[in-house]
Amino acid sequence: MYAEFDDTLVTGNEMIDSQHRELIGKINDLLRSCEDHADRKGAVRMLNYLADYTEFHFKAEEQLQEEIGYPGIKEHKAKHEELRRTVSELHEMLEEQEGPTDDFVEMVNKNVTEWLYYHIKGFDRSVAEYKFIRNNEKMI
Ligand SMILES: [Fe+2]
Repeated sequence: MYAEFDDTLVTGNEMIDSQHRELIGKINDLLRSCEDHADRKGAVRMLNYLADYTEFHFKAEEQLQEEIGYPGIKEHKAKHEELRRTVSELHEMLEEQEGPTDDFVEMVNKNVTEWLYYHIKGFDRSVAEYKFIRNNEKMI
């Protein structure tokens, strides 16, 4: 099951949306690499790419929240920590197992893809809305 960026994931903030598209692409690269259960090296490499991009994206999102004085930044940062923890658990799984197992793929689907969908629809959308309202207030 590949991840998909559809209209329900649009926040309206161009930077956030384009980074989410990229992130979903990286999740799919990882899932694709898992099709060969014996290819542990390939999965580790794709997981590293995903981890690096996640870090880049979270930093950008957190910086944006600081810039606009977003009141929910503390809770939002705590949520980002959840995904960071998942990524390190996934790393551990690959170290302990011969290659990317079905359990590994299930964890990617549930704790990365599903987590991201939920996070975007609630947490990220509310940042984009806050920024939008703040910008419009300035124009009045
Ligand atoms: Fe976020």
